[in-house]
Amino acid sequence: MQHALQVALTKKAFAHIDQGTTDMGRDVLRHPVSEYTCPDWLNREKSTLFRDFPLFMGLSGLIPEPGDFLAEDLGEIPTLLVRGDDGVARAFVNMCRHRGAPLAKGCGRNASFICPYHAWNYNQRGELVGLPDKRSFPGVEQEKMGLIALPTVEKDGMIWVIPTPDRNGAAHIEQQLTDHLGGLSDELASYQFGGYHADMTRTITRRANWKQPIETFLEAYHFNTLHKNTVAPLFFHNLCLFEDFGLNHREAVIRRSIETLRDRPESEWDFITHTGLSYQLFPNTIFVVQADHVETWRVFPSKERVDECVIRFDCYIPEPVTSESARKHWDANIDLAFKTVDEEDYAISEDIERGYLSHALKEVLIGRNEPSLGHYKKSITQAVKSSSDKKTGD
Ligand code: FES
Ligand SMILES: [Fe+2]
Repeated sequence: MQHALQVALTKKAFAHIDQGTTDMGRDVLRHPVSEYTCPDWLNREKSTLFRDFPLFMGLSGLIPEPGDFLAEDLGEIPTLLVRGDDGVARAFVNMCRHRGAPLAKGCGRNASFICPYHAWNYNQRGELVGLPDKRSFPGVEQEKMGLIALPTVEKDGMIWVIPTPDRNGAAHIEQQLTDHLGGLSDELASYQFGGYHADMTRTITRRANWKQPIETFLEAYHFNTLHKNTVAPLFFHNLCLFEDFGLNHREAVIRRSIETLRDRPESEWDFITHTGLSYQLFPNTIFVVQADHVETWRVFPSKERVDECVIRFDCYIPEPVTSESARKHWDANIDLAFKTVDEEDYAISEDIERGYLSHALKEVLIGRNEPSLGHYKKSITQAVKSSSDKKTGD
């Protein structure tokens, strides 16, 4: 983040601290509970939000070397993300063109991708380079049977994929991503994520609609109650800074340690050290920037249930871990962050979901002191409706 912006945000935080205020939304929002319980609404979300938008996949450090891959089955389309021998990150539908078997599972490094069923062989660029007993497939043009490509772009150390095959290619997704980020691109570029290393990952399933694990990050109104025994003493309660970028937004919650900056020259102000800074990358990622690492929380609806989701957590660090003491430091650090979110925030998300399924409550209220949450809920509703309308009109 540019230093001028860090100074501006620090001043804004000081003004709120002095006046006992916070950034505010325009109105109280009344939001329908059915968007958390209705299977039809979930299907609309899946067919729009998880098919039409550039989804954040990870930082470049997730697949740093040629042949590095990540096979992911969390979204609507089984996806194989691979770095080619030319250094380009590409995503494919993870299904063999013969009879559809997945080419890879999990993550690793492969010289090529040999199908486990009948050994069709694809190179790191997804081209079919080996077709055993080729004479049995007369008329099948091998050069046209590469893996089905998904539009992919790697920009400023971040990898994005639109999970719908499209012939328009990389130029198209690059423009779509820029439009989608609504002016956030330069700020994301300023962090220089290209040098980060993937350090650890965890995947968990929770019995809550997929939006809830995102939403728990989007307000500081719950700190003094839900987190009273853990992180609450570190932060100002009910104080957040919010700015929207199209359907995405930046939210900062403020650490009490920011007070130490008041006596220092502005040139030394380091806003990030003294905040919980996160970006909501629409529709399904919370991207947390800490002074010394990055955490990403990507959430996907479960395949079968409206009240279940899968959460993939990734942690990235600027330097790879090389010593035992550094390993212990990171494990303890990340364990604490993960545990607080999982045992406090996600536990109440599951409780809330159980209540929602009683259908006894028709709507919930979002206060003016929860501007990020209001923005997210409105963005979801608006994006699903306009995407569905566009499809109906096609
Ligand atoms: S399904 Fe892959 S080779 Fe047959
Ligand atoms: Fe929380």
